[in-house]
Amino acid sequence: MFAGTNEGGGISRSMGNMSLKQRVIAGLNSVAVLRWQVPARLVFALQGWAWPKQLKILGPIVLRGHGTLVLGTRVKIVSLSRYNPAGVNHPTVLTVLKGARMTIGDRVGMSGAAIFCATGIKIGNDVQIGANVSIFDTDFHALDYVDRRLDRHTPTAPVHIGDDVWIGANSIVLKGVTIGERAVIAAGSVVTSNIPANTLAGGVPSKVIRSLSPTTQEHVEP
Ligand SMILES: CC(C)(COP(=O)(O)OP(=O)(O)OC[C@H]1O[C@@H](n2cnc3c(N)ncnc32)[C@H](O)[C@@H]1OP(=O)(O)O)[C@@H](O)C(=O)NCCC(=O)NCCS
Repeated sequence: MFAGTNEGGGISRSMGNMSLKQRVIAGLNSVAVLRWQVPARLVFALQGWAWPKQLKILGPIVLRGHGTLVLGTRVKIVSLSRYNPAGVNHPTVLTVLKGARMTIGDRVGMSGAAIFCATGIKIGNDVQIGANVSIFDTDFHALDYVDRRLDRHTPTAPVHIGDDVWIGANSIVLKGVTIGERAVIAAGSVVTSNIPANTLAGGVPSKVIRSLSPTTQEHVEP
């Protein structure tokens, strides 16, 4: 709900209808937004990643790794609780290891997310990623203790999140999972296996709770 809305300080509000106080607040918020855009732009440039159109960064994000990161237009990334009243526990951290590819679609919103990509993560358009969600395409360590000591044979598999998915706060999406279009993941879920499109799923491990019927077949212009 909050992750993808345009509530980041009201900077997109029409200036014509605003009082002087509101204008001052909007101006200060614009400066605050620029403060985090500048270092992020520098990291994108150094990494050789294209700077996406209308990317909104609210807070100090962490960008790591030497893989490929592709962001769509109008992505919103929040890292501070002041921009998401659901509460953000840590800055958004996007890690793409060398040789891996993370693709994030248009109009995706996230707050305090930790997305770690060792091989491939694809997130569709209009996906809402709630506060403090983690998405991992790797287990980071092997189950076997010898493999763990030697840091080898770590299970890793791509993650795919379809268009219009909403992932509730504090959920964890694990390796190899596909979440179908328009599915909703309830807060605090651990998603260990595929979730079909148009379903509400939740729990630990996450199971389908019920089907969701799209209310309209109309094309909705966001
Ligand atoms: C997903 C959600 C919106 C569904 O709400 P809802 O349609 O009112 O669902 P209900 O409360 O009727 O629950 C339906 C069933 O799902 C279960 N359920 C709901 N939320 C659940 C959760 N987080 N984990 C596990 N099960 C859950 C209920 O226990 C109920 O089960 P039952 O039918 O056996 O009794 C809501 O559960 C939720 O997670 N809200 C928080 C979203 C969030 O994180 N927002 C912040 C974004 S930054």
